[in-house]
Amino acid sequence: MRAIRYHETGGPDVLQVDDVETPDPGHGEVRIETRAAGVNPVDTYFRTGEYPPGDLPKIPGSDVAGVVDAVGAGVEGYEVGDRVYATGLGNDRQGTYAEAVLAPTDRVAHLPEAVTFAEGAAMALVGVTAWQALVFHARLEPAEVCLVHSGSGGVGHVAVQLAAATGARVVTTASERYHDHLRDLGAHTVLDYRRDDLADAVREVGRPNVVLDTIMNEYFPFDAEVAAKRARIVGIGNTDSTAPIPMGYAKQKDLRFQLMTMFNTDDTGAVLSRLAQLMAAGSVVPEIARTYPLAEAAQAQRDVLDESFLGKLLLEP
Ligand SMILES: NC(=O)c1ccc[n+]([C@@H]2O[C@H](COP(=O)([O-])OP(=O)(O)OC[C@H]3O[C@@H](n4cnc5c(N)ncnc54)[C@H](OP(=O)(O)O)[C@@H]3O)[C@@H](O)[C@H]2O)c1
Repeated sequence: MRAIRYHETGGPDVLQVDDVETPDPGHGEVRIETRAAGVNPVDTYFRTGEYPPGDLPKIPGSDVAGVVDAVGAGVEGYEVGDRVYATGLGNDRQGTYAEAVLAPTDRVAHLPEAVTFAEGAAMALVGVTAWQALVFHARLEPAEVCLVHSGSGGVGHVAVQLAAATGARVVTTASERYHDHLRDLGAHTVLDYRRDDLADAVREVGRPNVVLDTIMNEYFPFDAEVAAKRARIVGIGNTDSTAPIPMGYAKQKDLRFQLMTMFNTDDTGAVLSRLAQLMAAGSVVPEIARTYPLAEAAQAQRDVLDESFLGKLLLEP
């Protein structure tokens, strides 16, 4: 099979197309014939070595959607021919930028007929992240105010829809050109993150009970200032390694700061199943900004960090 691999860590150009043996599924694993693979910022962190990539050469990628074409020993609930999607790959094991992918079944879910492979691959990692942040950690409730930073991003645009689906009042930040689209996705208020009076504008809607923060080092002090008493602030991303927690506000308001990674999800397959139901019902549907051929993985990884887009970038073999 063809697989994108890097033999050493470095810039996007270390990604190359290799011919490798198609792997056989081990105990508890299925093999998925890839129809689409998601591209996420985290794929680049492993490639550069910022996150330890494990054994090299390494196939990048967390997300895959496709058709089961082989089933390992001990597997229940999956058969050859099933439409599935999976995530959480490419960290402790080989990833998904390949024509076939092995996945343990606790990171896999069935994909309903009404959901395309592209939608499955686009949803997987960002959907599990948004779910873990808003549902598992923050326990967002109807009628609460939920602030989602970076609403046009992969995580952000799914988090906006998920929060709206729970009945929360959603405030999100994004560049001006995405505002109409984000209102269509269910945001009550969309604010340009570059505004000088952003804090006032958020407070005008209502002090958030839940915040999903994509750039903790930049926004933790802001979150604490605007948040409601006993707000839950969930941090998923950062651009440097400081995450200043403002102790004054945190203490005054009983704030909870939760940092997380989706790779710690206990039952990824169960979360993917719930997200599949929401996609099939049309309640939470990922947007696909651009699709690249597998061989253009290096360009896709450049673009995921450098370009502005709403939704997700995908690879298709
Ligand atoms: N902890 C986890 O499990 C987890 C999971 C997924 C992602 N993450 C992390 O979360 C972050 C977002 O991931 P993603 O996949 O959503 O990335 P993405 O699709 O690349 O989106 C990035 C978003 O950030 C916006 N942005 C840029 N500068 C901003 C600023 N100063 N203030 C507010 N928004 C700004 C961009 O908007 P414009 O294009 O308009 O500038 C874009 O919407 C990344 O750091 C990623 O590594 C963590």
